[in-house]
Amino acid sequence: MNIQLLNKNISDIKADILVEFLTPDALKEHTQAKLLNQAGFKAEQDSICFLHGKGLLFCGTDSKKSDDVRSATVAMVKALKSSNYESAAFSVLKNSSLAAMVEGVVLGGYEFNEYKSEPKEITLKDISLASNELEYDELKTTFDEALIVANATCYTRDIVNKAPQELNPETFAILAKKLANTNSLECNILAENELKNENMNAMLAVGRASIHESQLIHLAYKPANPKKVISLVGKGLTYDSGGLSLKPAANMVTMKMDKAGACAVLGIIKAVSELKLDVEVHAFIGAVENMVGGNAYKPDDVLVSRSGTTIEVRNTDAEGRLVLADVLTYAQENVKADGIFDFATLTGACMVALGQYTTGMMGHSHKLKHDFSKAGSASGELIGSLPFNRHLKKLLKSEIADISNVASKPFGGAITAGMFLDKFIKDENKNKWMHFDIAGSAYTEAAWDCNIYGGTGAGVRLMSEYLKNI
Ligand code: BES
Ligand code: ZN
Ligand code: ZN
Repeated sequence: MNIQLLNKNISDIKADILVEFLTPDALKEHTQAKLLNQAGFKAEQDSICFLHGKGLLFCGTDSKKSDDVRSATVAMVKALKSSNYESAAFSVLKNSSLAAMVEGVVLGGYEFNEYKSEPKEITLKDISLASNELEYDELKTTFDEALIVANATCYTRDIVNKAPQELNPETFAILAKKLANTNSLECNILAENELKNENMNAMLAVGRASIHESQLIHLAYKPANPKKVISLVGKGLTYDSGGLSLKPAANMVTMKMDKAGACAVLGIIKAVSELKLDVEVHAFIGAVENMVGGNAYKPDDVLVSRSGTTIEVRNTDAEGRLVLADVLTYAQENVKADGIFDFATLTGACMVALGQYTTGMMGHSHKLKHDFSKAGSASGELIGSLPFNRHLKKLLKSEIADISNVASKPFGGAITAGMFLDKFIKDENKNKWMHFDIAGSAYTEAAWDCNIYGGTGAGVRLMSEYLKNI
């Protein structure tokens, strides 16, 4: 499906159907009000009404604000995709909601059909956005940027959705290399031998029972005169069976999504390099598979992490923090960054705390929390802050090692996981680091907002928005 912005009046565009967004107030004044009333259309949020004979489609929206417009656009694109129209056109409501319209079309119209022998055929080919009243150059920039970010979000979704027998740590590394080639990024990949030399023992322990070698992937986007240097770190568990602390069967389904942090980081560096931002961005990914076997790491093992901190393993299902401990250490030792942001499907507890739609944000810097809250609102991603405290920190105490990989009490599990990571953040970086738990927001089994079944691409819009404003 193609999407384009045209410097034209909507009535000058040749399209099979014209789409109009209507608030309940605008409906009352509309020339088709009588017909729409007969059809029972009240312009409620996300409701749609075709007037086929007239070549018109109406979409209800509570307001012209981005969140409402994005949601209405999703309803519109889904309705069009199940019709037999080939082309549709609608007017840009205003500059501030143009990005939401693009997201609605691209993200709401997204499908993942890689494993379907006979995907449903879609007649819809072209969607045109019309505007000749607003400042076109400004609109065009907004449109182009929104399209880059939306496509990068779909790229992230595509990788998250790949089945675990296809996407393992080794094939993940190949995929990252491909992105590096296409987008002219620097790329350095460390396989198990090199990881041993680098003392990445916590990360290696997690992947030991897998038939696939663990991989550390480092991509870098380096513009000529960067304003800032940012390191992104992603949890890339291509499958999380729980290890010897095996997950119950029902909880294991969907655990291909445990690589979503790594996929988000790839999507972000793709977006940044295509937006040509003036920010140097490094992506560090720990790609690992958590499996069972005779050589699996065990509850009771004590691991010596890259930083030297010893970790008592009390649960092999709390594996993401072990991988991140080493990758965060590696990232801090290899790049002196102004910001260090990790993305991870780290805890089920984050979903309990914030619900499944909201990303949990943790760290020490109030300024970063404020900036990311703003970026969340502007980008349409939901984000909530979970506060660290010294009492929860004590729950990670180990009797035989420096720290335990699980807290001694189950409450506040997202925060104790975040505080475990904090142990591996150097003092000089404490205020530069933010941890994003995307366990709930990265994957869905029921459509919501502009997300359909599967990977959502959580983190890509949020971080692209933050980096655009640096
Ligand atoms: N990958 C999971 C977290 C997760 C759960 C992500 C559900 C998405 C949906 C993580 O590795 C894990 O298993 N965490 C444990 C931690 C516990 C053992 C302390 C959890 O959340 O139960
Ligand atoms: Zn786990
Ligand atoms: Zn996991």
